[in-house]
Amino acid sequence: MDANTTTLSELFRAGAALLGGRPQALLEAKVLLLRAARLTEERYLAAPDKPCPPQAEAFFRRLVERRLAGAPLAHLTGTREFWSLPFEVGPAVLVPRPETEGLVEKVLELSSREDEDIVDVGTGSGCIAVALAQELPRARIRAVDVSERALRVARRNAARHKARRIEFLRSDLLSAFRATGLKFDFIVSNPPYIARAEWDGLPEDVRRYEPRRALLAGESGLELIERLVRRSAAFLKPGGYLILEIGEGQRDRVLALFGRRWTEIETAWDLAGKPRVITARRA
Ligand SMILES: C[S@@+](CC[C@H](N)C(=O)[O-])C[C@H]1O[C@@H](n2cnc3c(N)ncnc32)[C@H](O)[C@@H]1O
Repeated sequence: MDANTTTLSELFRAGAALLGGRPQALLEAKVLLLRAARLTEERYLAAPDKPCPPQAEAFFRRLVERRLAGAPLAHLTGTREFWSLPFEVGPAVLVPRPETEGLVEKVLELSSREDEDIVDVGTGSGCIAVALAQELPRARIRAVDVSERALRVARRNAARHKARRIEFLRSDLLSAFRATGLKFDFIVSNPPYIARAEWDGLPEDVRRYEPRRALLAGESGLELIERLVRRSAAFLKPGGYLILEIGEGQRDRVLALFGRRWTEIETAWDLAGKPRVITARRA
């Protein structure tokens, strides 16, 4: 990048040129510049020829370099939108994916909007629990994860969105509730579901920057889903729902896990036409 670059729009063009090989080069350059200069898009558009402060310029150059080296955009900005809300993200949590909003939609479709008990298993950034807390003000929401580092991020995201009613707990799946006798109306989860053999085929930025424990689920990719299906019935009220995100090619094998204790087993497809959300009701 030219060392004399000074105005915001010149910096934007220089960054976009450097990122030029990427499909979203213009968008990425804009997002990184706004982050480095701490500007909203409106303020940038109102004065694109304003000089960029040297510190912000240096920060922008570093961000572009890290992006070129493969760092995910969300890690560079420290945030990703989910359910139209900004969530802090970082190396401890999976960056929320748009298709996961299908889990929130399904709970809202089935919810009575009364004081239901909901648990988000493998909460990561807390995106599902926080979105549900915003939409269902009467619900009692718990969110669990095995990772204490992920829970710290999730708690900050809940505080940021004033979702004070969510109780966060460290737990291996639902084990923290074994002694409590608590039963849920909804168990919702986007669990790890990548098979070991699929790991090498994942995009490099995913393998290098996202937590393995958030993605990998044994040889089959179904290790966590199998355990969750097996154990969930005991933690659901009669008529309660288990709502799960699944990976590509897993639908038939996941449907086969549900036995006589389950009814109303349904699949929802994502916008790319892939089976993505499995819902099952405790008989
Ligand atoms: C695919 S990520 C989902 C994160 C977030 N819910 C989302 O949708 O973006 C899976 C999460 O499950 C957590 N996890 C992995 N194994 C677990 C287990 N045995 N019990 C509870 N959480 C687990 C990981 O730490 C990770 O945060």
